[in-house]
Amino acid sequence: MNKPDYHSASEIVIFGALGDLSRRKLLPALYQLDKAGLLNPKSRILGVARQTNTIEDFTNFVIENLTEFVKEGLDDVVLARFVSRLVYQQLDFMDTASYTQLAATLKGGHETRVYYFSTPPAIYGNITDGLKSALLITDADRVVMEKPIGNCLESSKVINNQVSRFFKENQIYRIDHYLGKETVLNLLVLRFANSLFTNNWDRNSIDHIQITVAESVGIEGRWGFYDDAGQMRDMVQNHLLQILSLLAMEPPADLSAESIRAEKLKAVKALVPIDRINVKENTVRGQYADGYLNGLPVPGYLNEEGANLKSNTETFVAIKAELDNWRWAGVPFYLRTGKRMPAKHSEIVVQFKPQAHNIFKDSHVDLPANKLTIRLQPDEGVELQMMNKIPGIASQMQIQENKLDLSFSETYDNQRVVDAYERLMLEVVNGNQSLFVSRDEVEAAWTWADSIIDAWKESNEDPKPYAAGSWGPVASLSMIARDDRQWVE
Ligand code: BG6
Repeated sequence: MNKPDYHSASEIVIFGALGDLSRRKLLPALYQLDKAGLLNPKSRILGVARQTNTIEDFTNFVIENLTEFVKEGLDDVVLARFVSRLVYQQLDFMDTASYTQLAATLKGGHETRVYYFSTPPAIYGNITDGLKSALLITDADRVVMEKPIGNCLESSKVINNQVSRFFKENQIYRIDHYLGKETVLNLLVLRFANSLFTNNWDRNSIDHIQITVAESVGIEGRWGFYDDAGQMRDMVQNHLLQILSLLAMEPPADLSAESIRAEKLKAVKALVPIDRINVKENTVRGQYADGYLNGLPVPGYLNEEGANLKSNTETFVAIKAELDNWRWAGVPFYLRTGKRMPAKHSEIVVQFKPQAHNIFKDSHVDLPANKLTIRLQPDEGVELQMMNKIPGIASQMQIQENKLDLSFSETYDNQRVVDAYERLMLEVVNGNQSLFVSRDEVEAAWTWADSIIDAWKESNEDPKPYAAGSWGPVASLSMIARDDRQWVE
């Protein structure tokens, strides 16, 4: 008999079940897993929140949000099955004693529980204490923690310590949803399933790498959170460093969590520190001012609702990062990310070095070097720029730069792009940590990011303004131009 695709984890407990992440991402992801036959038939989904709700209220909430966020529409049979899994528990997260009520609801001999903390990280410790006091943690259980884990190295340690008093590292799943994106996962395949790239992925062949994660949205009403965080803590410390570590790591021996996490950690640790000595030449901070997007006026950051007019929080960051190791010595990784940029557009550009000798100088004094573009989102795909002869009889050979373009939507016949949370939820249920961030890596990432943030604080400079709808401050162009290079638009 074939083994079923689903695994034993059969109770998924979402703390903060009525929140934004839950309704937009977690519930739709679980619905998709159910639809694909990847949830154990006995699995229950327990929504935990502060509000006093009946199971009917919660069911209606789930149906409303699935209707809104499952783009291709709901299947009646799957929906009925999904709804029958739902359970709701009101809980005061801060009141340890009240977790006995949760214990009463959870009774039922399931093998593994997944506790998903979709609450502010400051209360992860309280929830852990509550679970422990109600005897709800066994070695088989898992906990999922959403970012941000702290807002600096020290505060991340506090949160990690609180949770790891009762959960071991192999039970803790720290989510960075970029690791669940199809195109980010594909970096492993591109690098390690193609000898063409595996053998040319180092300082001998690569001139530099650019990573751009641009968003057209502003802060979407999240002033309270965002103004304390800024783009460095919200995007660079986690999402951009995850992309960088997958691009820069040494080949892992296999796909196991141990191998992948060990190599990623080494890459992050190899980042050259940026501090007050070199922060000016290697970083740019920006903040969006009033501008236009798609022809419509949009307010600047300081004109957003609830803004503190004195805020000098950055909404754009550009960094020239370097790794101090054999593979990457002398190869810059230029990172840039910002809110209110012209479009949602994330891509990696790997610029190869030019040919050592040019036999086509008569027609091409400078032979353009190969360039690999990995489009992360939207319009996912991979593109390789290369030189090609233009067909024809002309006595002097005519050559031209062309591209091999592999568009995922065309190649895979518009197959639905699996959402990052579906992949990550599945991996949690299956007990595979390879797509989750280890404590050591979170700490290495904070160490590097903190040094930059401290240097910015010390320099006391305001972020450079850029018009909403532009590609960031001019200083970001100058930063890369100083190296005789330019951002690829
Ligand atoms: C989140 C950040 O982690 O990632 C948001 O907090 C950001 O500010 C979002 O908008 C971007 O994610 P995605 O998947 O839309 O690129």
